[in-house]
Amino acid sequence: MIRKTISILIFTIMSMSHLSAGSEEFIQLVEPQKTGGMPLFEALDNRQSMRNYSPEELSPQDLSNLLWAAIGVNREDGKRTAPTARNWLQFDIYVIMADGSYLYDAAEHALIRIADEDLREHAGTQSFARTAPVNLIFVSDHDRMTGADRAKRDFNSATDVGFISQNVYLFCASEGLATVVRGMVDREKLHEILQLRPAQHVILGQSVGYPAD
Ligand SMILES: Cc1cc2nc3c(=O)[nH]c(=O)nc-3n(C[C@H](O)[C@H](O)[C@H](O)COP(=O)(O)O)c2cc1C
Repeated sequence: MIRKTISILIFTIMSMSHLSAGSEEFIQLVEPQKTGGMPLFEALDNRQSMRNYSPEELSPQDLSNLLWAAIGVNREDGKRTAPTARNWLQFDIYVIMADGSYLYDAAEHALIRIADEDLREHAGTQSFARTAPVNLIFVSDHDRMTGADRAKRDFNSATDVGFISQNVYLFCASEGLATVVRGMVDREKLHEILQLRPAQHVILGQSVGYPAD
C-alpha cells in the first residue's frame, strides 16, 4: 500500500519532469501504448542497427513503450512479450541512463533505481554507448533456471536474449528510434556496478535513442 502511494506520487512528478524523481527508489512508468505502431512488415523492412544517437533523453512514453515491448507483461498470467524456455523468465533488464541506473520491474511496469550517478561510461566499450541516452543491459539469472545444468543455463541465456533484443529492434524500427545490440561490453565491470549476484550473468547490451540528424 505504501509502495503504491509512493509510486502514484512519483508518477505525478514524472509526468511533469521526466525521470527527475530525486533519490526515490521506485518509479512507476506511464502506461505503455499497446496499440498502433507501424505494420509488422514495414517494421521488419526498417529494422537495422544504428550507432549514431542524439543526446536527447527518451520521452517517458517512449521509455515505457520500449521496456514493455522488450519484456513487458502481455497476459493476465504474467507471461511476457518475449518467450523464455520453460517460462523461466530468467532475464532482467537494467537501464543505464544519464540520471541513474535502474532495474525494470516488469510485473509493476516500474523502474527501481539502483544508482544515482551517470554510469554510461561503463555501459559498453564503444564510444557511442557513453552518449546514447538509454543503454539496456540484458542479465540472465541462472538461479531461476531450475533443474538445468550449467551448459543448459548458458544455452538458454544465449538463445532467449535474442527474442528480447529483436523485440527492441522491431519497436525501434516502428517508432523511428536508433538501436544496436552489443556483445562488446565489459561484463565484469557491469556485474560490479549493477551490484549483481554471482548467479546473474551479463549477456548483451543494447543502446537506444533518437537518431542523430
Ligand atoms: C549477438 C550480437 C552481438 C552484436 N554485438 C555488437 C557490438 O558489440 N557492437 C556493434 O556495434 N554491433 C553489434 N552487433 C550488431 C551487428 O554488427 C549487426 O547486427 C550486423 O552488422 C548486421 O547489421 P543490421 O543489424 O543492421 O542488420 C551485434 C549483433 C548481434 C546479433
